[in-house]
Amino acid sequence: SDLYCVFGNPIEHSKSPLIHAEFAQQTQQIIEYTAKQAPPDGFADAWRTFVEKGGRGANVTVPFKGEAYALCDTLSKRAQRAKAVNTLTVGGNGLTYGDNTDGVGLIRDLKYHRVTLAGKRVLVVGAGGAVQGILEPLLAEQPGEVMVVNRTPEKAQQLAEDFCDLGELYSGGFKAAKGPFDVVINGSSASLNGDLPPLPDNLFADGAWAYDMMYGAEETVFLKWAGTHGAQRLDGLGMLVEQAAEAFFLWRNVRPDTTHVRQTLRRMLN
Ligand code: ATR
Repeated sequence: SDLYCVFGNPIEHSKSPLIHAEFAQQTQQIIEYTAKQAPPDGFADAWRTFVEKGGRGANVTVPFKGEAYALCDTLSKRAQRAKAVNTLTVGGNGLTYGDNTDGVGLIRDLKYHRVTLAGKRVLVVGAGGAVQGILEPLLAEQPGEVMVVNRTPEKAQQLAEDFCDLGELYSGGFKAAKGPFDVVINGSSASLNGDLPPLPDNLFADGAWAYDMMYGAEETVFLKWAGTHGAQRLDGLGMLVEQAAEAFFLWRNVRPDTTHVRQTLRRMLN
């Protein structure tokens, strides 16, 4: 069977092995997919060792997406834009190909929930690696306008410059966010620490959606806050599944159905 894995640190709670096992079963692909913890300073070595042992591809998660990007021989356009790689593939020539399926994962999850972006006003909160990974696929949906706000406004401004050729993009600090927005995406890691970015009230349009790229058994503080302002809410569990499906498609050339594994993961979480 063909070998795949996910690299991260920490990695023991990764849901990726379960997701890919379910995809493989469903599409009758014979693969083995495991979780591997790489040491903080040893990601490139871990990848090389894995390839020497027959590894065909890997997902990459925190904190190695930047290092994965750096070691690739060739990169997809969206990975070049993101300056981050979450999917590695060994090519027929033995070269390492890097892609980033996070942004597509987000867009597919939104579509799964019938959330459209075309012509809409979208607010993105945060300007770190996670946001860098989603901006190109997001702008490809042709939203009317995207604003990126961040605790450190300079980083939001840099992103706005880097991606300005792809659409109407504005930036600022949290207080610069002027609603109403149709979709508000939290890509900051504030939720991880249980923090709520100090966003202005009146952000949400009627029927607006709030999306947190994080997820957990408990609703995140961002989604709780959005709920008190009347927004419809989605967490990042669907994005996790969809980025995995896109990686699986890259490796196996067959697109798995995500419905069942979504339900399984949701049950496990609660
Ligand atoms: P990731 O890969 O998860 O995006 P990152 O590149 O370190 O990680 O980026 C973290 C993001 O979350 C940044 O936008 C960060 O804001 P700063 O650029 O000002 O550091 C944001 N962030 C982290 N903790 C936060 C908090 N408590 N409140 C608001 N924003 C926070």
